[in-house]
Amino acid sequence: MPNPKAFHKPEEDQISLVDLQANYLSHKQEFDEAVAACVNKSDFIGGEDHAAFAVEFANWCGGGAVALVGNGTDALTLALIEVLGQGDGSGEVITVSNTFIGTTEAITGAGYRPVFVDIDPDTCLMNIDLARAAVNERSRAIVPVHLYGQMVPMDQVMDLASMRGLAVIEDAAQAHGATWQGKKPGALGDAACFSFYPGKNLGAWGDGGAVFTRDKDLAMRISMRANHGRLDKYHHALEGVNSRLDGIQAAVLRVKLRYIDEWNRARREISFWYKELLTGQDDIQLPVTATDAESVYHLYVVQVENRDIVCKKMHDKGIGGGIHYPVPLHLQSAYAGLGYRSGDFPQTEAVMSRVLSLPVFPEMRRDQVERVARTLIESVKK
Ligand SMILES: Cc1ncc(COP(=O)(O)O)c(C=O)c1O
Repeated sequence: MPNPKAFHKPEEDQISLVDLQANYLSHKQEFDEAVAACVNKSDFIGGEDHAAFAVEFANWCGGGAVALVGNGTDALTLALIEVLGQGDGSGEVITVSNTFIGTTEAITGAGYRPVFVDIDPDTCLMNIDLARAAVNERSRAIVPVHLYGQMVPMDQVMDLASMRGLAVIEDAAQAHGATWQGKKPGALGDAACFSFYPGKNLGAWGDGGAVFTRDKDLAMRISMRANHGRLDKYHHALEGVNSRLDGIQAAVLRVKLRYIDEWNRARREISFWYKELLTGQDDIQLPVTATDAESVYHLYVVQVENRDIVCKKMHDKGIGGGIHYPVPLHLQSAYAGLGYRSGDFPQTEAVMSRVLSLPVFPEMRRDQVERVARTLIESVKK
């Protein structure tokens, strides 16, 4: 069942994980005008904002081309299908279990079998040595997941992929604007797939997604597949799907794209504040960013003992924490058929009961960060 209350306006004295109301109010007039203009033109499917956003987002990603689609899961699915071809279930795609199920729904949806590898305990991202060990003659691609706003070491991923002839489809759903050695998602891999789910760093007012690639022909094929395989209105090169980004979402995203760099800077500043306020607290493990990475802090994830109790204490005091993720994918009922067991990925399983995402959103004030930090410090005390 969908979660109708995934986002709601926080009460006066609450600090929620993200505050989309504050984000709307920060540029209300621009948003209202952009949406009104789109509605006035009846640009509901396709249209000017849709075309312009595809170009602007591609430029912001580093120059190349973008296919706009209905959500991040479809972005991954369609990219995998166009890069690898529709699979028959026998080929394998290597990824991590510490991610959202959209990553693996896409792999299965494209006709491949997800193969999980464990994470680096510091960054909580894919351990590349373990990915290397998982490659066999059935392996077709790697899907590195740039989780929490931090990119996976892409130089190492690309070395492995080129040595073993694998495609690289980056899951950048949580990493708009992140860099690895100064390069954004999609600069090295075959394609980078984004989600514009409302709470993302670049979030729409509903679902949305995009594939960025340096290969213009690939972007065109994905766009076509996402739009019923259309060549034009009544001619279909293939049977595709209906997975389009709405015109209104494109209008909203065009406004947000003007501010995303500023917002990512604000998220970074908030992360510095948390670090300053929480450093030295032995019971609170702070997130680790690799020296080659610049995180955009989609989430600020600390690790604590008795996480569920700490999280509840914080909720009781009006602080909305999140858990990303309480049950890793290899232990989900949906993947019982893959044959994994508890104990298969010790690092992933060690963090699942410890991770706690603290509120972080660009409009967050210093006093709010201080209150979250203070409440966390009190809540971890026995
Ligand atoms: C890491 C990751 N991958 C994939 C997805 C799927 O994106 P969407 O919800 O837009 O389908 C999400 C977003 O929720 C995500 O966080």
